Amino acid sequence: MTTLVRQLTRIPGLRHLWRKFPVGSAHLRVEFDIWDYPAYAYGVYSAANLARLLGHDGISVIEFGVAGGSGLVALEQISEHLSMELGVRISAFGFDTGQGMPEPTDYRDLPYVWGPGFYRMDPDALRHRLHNAQLLLGNVGDTVKQFCATVKDPIGFVSFDLDYHSSTKSALSIFQAHACTRLPRVFCYFDDVIWPERACYSEYAGEYLAIREFNAQYEAMKLSKIPHLSWMRQHAAAWNEQMYVLHDFFHPEYCTNITPVSGRQM
Ligand SMILES: C[S@@+](CC[C@H](N)C(=O)[O-])C[C@H]1O[C@@H](n2cnc3c(N)ncnc32)[C@H](O)[C@@H]1O
Repeated sequence: MTTLVRQLTRIPGLRHLWRKFPVGSAHLRVEFDIWDYPAYAYGVYSAANLARLLGHDGISVIEFGVAGGSGLVALEQISEHLSMELGVRISAFGFDTGQGMPEPTDYRDLPYVWGPGFYRMDPDALRHRLHNAQLLLGNVGDTVKQFCATVKDPIGFVSFDLDYHSSTKSALSIFQAHACTRLPRVFCYFDDVIWPERACYSEYAGEYLAIREFNAQYEAMKLSKIPHLSWMRQHAAAWNEQMYVLHDFFHPEYCTNITPVSGRQM
């Protein structure tokens, strides 16, 4: 089946058409990137599957940086579909100031690309488009702490799309909370590591610096890019370069074996 679909999806325009008429299982559509935000679909699917294998009945998924809301609406839709198919409850949350980008702190926020007031949102209009996803408005430095104190299901997927180094660093403090607030491996998407080209990203500013500083700060937790993801996908895509995993090595479930019985070559 997969081989046939792979051959068919090599026909120019077919995947575009499939996205317009999204038939087939959610799993198959994740495999072939038949979603508006395929990176989100991959991250939520991987997290929900991990949760299922570990015996959890629910997860939380997050978008940091919501702006007009296209990403959060997509995250909510993906969560609803995958929740039904995998039998795992998936709660979606979006974090934003609600007033666009704050003031940059210094050169590390790449003020030559972004500035205060960029990406303003209309919170009321967005809330009308959402069914279950929750919007948490305010600076992530404050809202993350409140969220960690109340989160019910472990965090399984996080999209970081806050543009600034300072904002991303604040958002990453979500992993300072107790291990029970997250899965042992959390799928993470970093938006601001490719494009726009004029950003000339480097490991000395922006999201790359926030990731490097996080890894220097923690011995037992590391953010690591998923190596060679494009080779494991049916069709390679740019987002494959943006997927990381938070490894929480001392998490009580980190070493729990998740290989299905059929895959255990005894
Ligand atoms: C590029 S936009 C997000 C786009 C969105 N993810 C999408 O796919 O449509 C970046 C957003 O990050 C938000 N943001 C940046 N720094 C923030 C901070 N410190 N606290 C809360 N929100 C912040 C801005 O308000 C802005 O809406």
